[in-house]
Amino acid sequence: MSLTLLHVLITCIVVLLTAVAYLFWRRMNYWRERGIPHDKPSYLYGSFRGLSKSYGFSEILRSMYQRYKGTGPFCGYYFFQRPAAMILDMGLVKNILMKDFSNFSDRGLFYNEQDDPLTGHLFFVDSSKWHVLHGKLSPTFSEYKVRGMFPLMCNGAQQLVQTLDALVQRNVNVEVKELMGRYATDVIGKCALGIECNSLKNPNAECRAIGRRIFTDRRHSPLVSGLIEGFPKLARKLRMAVIHEDIANFFVRLVRENMEYREKHNVRGNDLMNLMMELNKSKKLRYDENDEFKGLTVEEMTAQAFFFFAAGSEKSSSTLSGALYELARQSEIQERLRSEIIETLCQHDNELTYECLHEMKYMKQVLSETLRKYPVLPHLVRQALLDYPVPDHPEYVIPAGVLVTIPVIGIHYDPEIYPDPEKFDPERFTPENVKMRERIGWLPFGDGPRKCIGFRFAEMEMRTALVYLLKNFKFSVSELTKSTSINLRGDTFLKVERI
Ligand code: HEM
Repeated sequence: MSLTLLHVLITCIVVLLTAVAYLFWRRMNYWRERGIPHDKPSYLYGSFRGLSKSYGFSEILRSMYQRYKGTGPFCGYYFFQRPAAMILDMGLVKNILMKDFSNFSDRGLFYNEQDDPLTGHLFFVDSSKWHVLHGKLSPTFSEYKVRGMFPLMCNGAQQLVQTLDALVQRNVNVEVKELMGRYATDVIGKCALGIECNSLKNPNAECRAIGRRIFTDRRHSPLVSGLIEGFPKLARKLRMAVIHEDIANFFVRLVRENMEYREKHNVRGNDLMNLMMELNKSKKLRYDENDEFKGLTVEEMTAQAFFFFAAGSEKSSSTLSGALYELARQSEIQERLRSEIIETLCQHDNELTYECLHEMKYMKQVLSETLRKYPVLPHLVRQALLDYPVPDHPEYVIPAGVLVTIPVIGIHYDPEIYPDPEKFDPERFTPENVKMRERIGWLPFGDGPRKCIGFRFAEMEMRTALVYLLKNFKFSVSELTKSTSINLRGDTFLKVERI
């Protein structure tokens, strides 16, 4: 190579590196340039410096909300390298989730249908695809459909009692988080996909093993995951994938075999799988070049099956273990709830019905307080489509493309909304107390058109489990419970006795 050529090459590399460094520097100065209050970011971790197992996202978001609340309608932060706005004003939260939803209908998170097809599910997809999918899939968990699933939930809860019985005979300390995960896996498998997961009978059942891995077994390190979320468009261009191949293969096989079986035996279930098969067959419906929905492909069906399974097996179970943990710590609340269950059942010839569950007012209060204290998603995420000048604050504009965060964890622990927020107190959710607060101050399922579509299902599933559990067992704390982390990320050991 001639000296001149080498010189040109080195110059090009230096120019390129300088340009990249400059763009990076500009990005990490995004809020400073706009004069929006924010913490100085770390170049690698953005605002999540110090992130660890014991100091997670929730703690960082909560501390940021507490420090910036009152400074303006939002503050800036960096979701790793991506500029993000944290909303601090309840009026603005309402505008984003509901009134001005058309400008905030996207989540703007990473998904890559081409190279990582399972990420193309309702939670991740945006724009017209979300609109159509949402319209087609939300009937799966309508009040009517959930009522039809109620007997399956009861079967699951009976199986849960039998499994717990066997565990109690062997050991009084039970790790309830995993046990609730097994119950929720069996219930969502049966109700959404029409399959028997058998994870209560067999803790190592394949479905459960996969379900456990979805949330614990990341394909990339936190740093690389952060970069993917920081530059979602670039990550898509680089053909990145986030879901492990063997997990994806499991769901591809599950959906394919399920379809084949149903077609061969002419099986029609009252479930998500059935609904998706109808959308798959309907040739009148499939996306065409004008972005019009023209049906659901098998890959798209698999992505939905994956997310519904993941949401159904994890979220209700961690909320249930939070409820049991708090009930074990406060025996008077546990006794009061048990009395309500027994009285209500007595009024219905000892038979648990769907209507009966709705009559249990204290049950609703206990679960609402659990969801306040342990929201499974510590923040809601949206993305502005166009620049959004904040009403009454002309100096504050949410720029298009910026990630918008509603800090659920900050709001749920805001002492001005919930005095003494660390205390578990179901009285906060009596109908009178609820009326005195703004509805937007309780967001465990989100709100507006992108609210959780599984909320009715999850509520019924959790209530059913609590009825069966409290009728048959007494929960209390033991030496082992003390190792439980307050945000229930780890194991939750409780002492369990048969009544
Ligand atoms: C205790 C249980 C659950 C909690 C706390 C929960 C919470 C949430 C939250 C906070 C969101 C985001 C809402 C927003 O951005 O406004 C969400 C979205 C969603 N959830 Fe749930 N969820 C639970 C159970 C379930 C179940 C059982 C399913 C279905 C099997 C489910 C399906 C979904 C779907 C499909 C979305 C995306 C909705 C959309 O973007 O249109 N969730 N959930």
